[in-house]
Amino acid sequence: MSNATTAKGSNGLLGWIDARFPLTKLWNEHVGEYYAPKNFNFWYYFGALSLFVLVNQILTGIWLTMNYNPSAEGAFASVEYIMRDVEWGWLIRYLHSTGASFFFIAVYLHMFRALLYGSYQKPRELIWIFGMLIYLLLMAEAFMGYLLPWGQMSYWGAQVIISLFGAIPGIGEDLALWIRGDYNISGVTLNRFFALHVVALPLALVFLVIFHIIALHEVGSNNPDGVEIKKNKDSAGRPLDGIPFHPYYTIKDTFGLGVFLIFFSAVVFFAPEMGGLFLEPPNFEPANPLQTPEHIAPVWYFTAFYSILRAIPDKFGGVMAMGGAIFLLFLLPWLDRGRVHSIRYRGLCHKIALGLFAVAFVCLSYLGLQAPSDVILGLTVTAWARIWTVVYFGFFIFLFVYTAFGLERTKPVPERVTH
Ligand code: HEM
Repeated sequence: MSNATTAKGSNGLLGWIDARFPLTKLWNEHVGEYYAPKNFNFWYYFGALSLFVLVNQILTGIWLTMNYNPSAEGAFASVEYIMRDVEWGWLIRYLHSTGASFFFIAVYLHMFRALLYGSYQKPRELIWIFGMLIYLLLMAEAFMGYLLPWGQMSYWGAQVIISLFGAIPGIGEDLALWIRGDYNISGVTLNRFFALHVVALPLALVFLVIFHIIALHEVGSNNPDGVEIKKNKDSAGRPLDGIPFHPYYTIKDTFGLGVFLIFFSAVVFFAPEMGGLFLEPPNFEPANPLQTPEHIAPVWYFTAFYSILRAIPDKFGGVMAMGGAIFLLFLLPWLDRGRVHSIRYRGLCHKIALGLFAVAFVCLSYLGLQAPSDVILGLTVTAWARIWTVVYFGFFIFLFVYTAFGLERTKPVPERVTH
């Protein structure tokens, strides 16, 4: 019996609910009868995995909040208390702190998938825009969360980032003051970051994720071939190259989740600090406004943009470049004028450009973790950061040029999906 028959004909509790709330209808529309392309590959795990990590962050966050004290006097000690005295507190905290890094790993791979298969192109521009808004909020969420343990890096990291707003001509200083709520980062800042981190931003994130998925289900999923499965339907109106999300992809995603959990648990139980990458050593010392740590660097998921900031000698110029690096991603659906979606059928110039863009992002991330004056292969970290910053921005310019002026030599795209 199909799900649709169950919806109309069922009685009992489900029938009672369906007569009052479209439960079966929603299930069918978004899961049971949502036809997804049958050729999803490895890259298509990361949306579901991001969703899983979002739920993990919310649940572990609620339990952390039960014992965390959001004050400059008590925050650091309350985190120590959670780690040592609260039953399973260490696990809840490590699930949350490791979850933050894995969130970005999943989201970066998820975004790269969109770049590989042109999932941001027409008609999926809004899915991408919602995604970018999620990404922005996620960065704000992680940044504010990092202040909460009130360690040295929490304090000085926030100091560096908030002072960047001060570089904006005219309104900068007032804006930084407004964000901090004080002349310095203080308990006032901690309180507002706590409120935003635990209530406002998660709420907004959840709504955006819902919009993201509604937009996705409106136009339908893209796939590794970048062909629209809605173009070829059977007599019942079902895409010939589609399969119902449930049970096919619920099972597949459960397998993906199992593999993900192996990696996730390995880090949570054996390397929660990840050699200083996920939890930085200075953050095991309480915040001290009178002593700057020797080397201030944000957590790894911000360092690509931090490198771009440091690559520009002028502070305001650096802030503009950093903002521009993120803003250009928003414009991607309109900068890429190409008609072919998937990397499989795009021209060599695009393959090279996208490959270089990915390498630039990884290199900038690495460079942002190093001191600017360090020397690598005869060049300073700053010099390398300048080179890769040019490559990063060059990608967007070249993409526009070779797609707008028809310089890309694409391959013929098949009518139906391949295996
Ligand atoms: C909390 C973070 C996020 C969650 C929970 C999430 C969830 C999902 C899910 C479940 C899907 C469908 C499954 C899949 O295609 O993998 C999806 C698709 C998509 N997401 Fe996200 N997403 C998130 C962040 C982002 C970000 C940051 C971007 C890009 C800026 C993005 C862009 C896309 C695109 C373009 C698709 C359509 C892919 C296709 O059909 O090929 N998402 N997302």
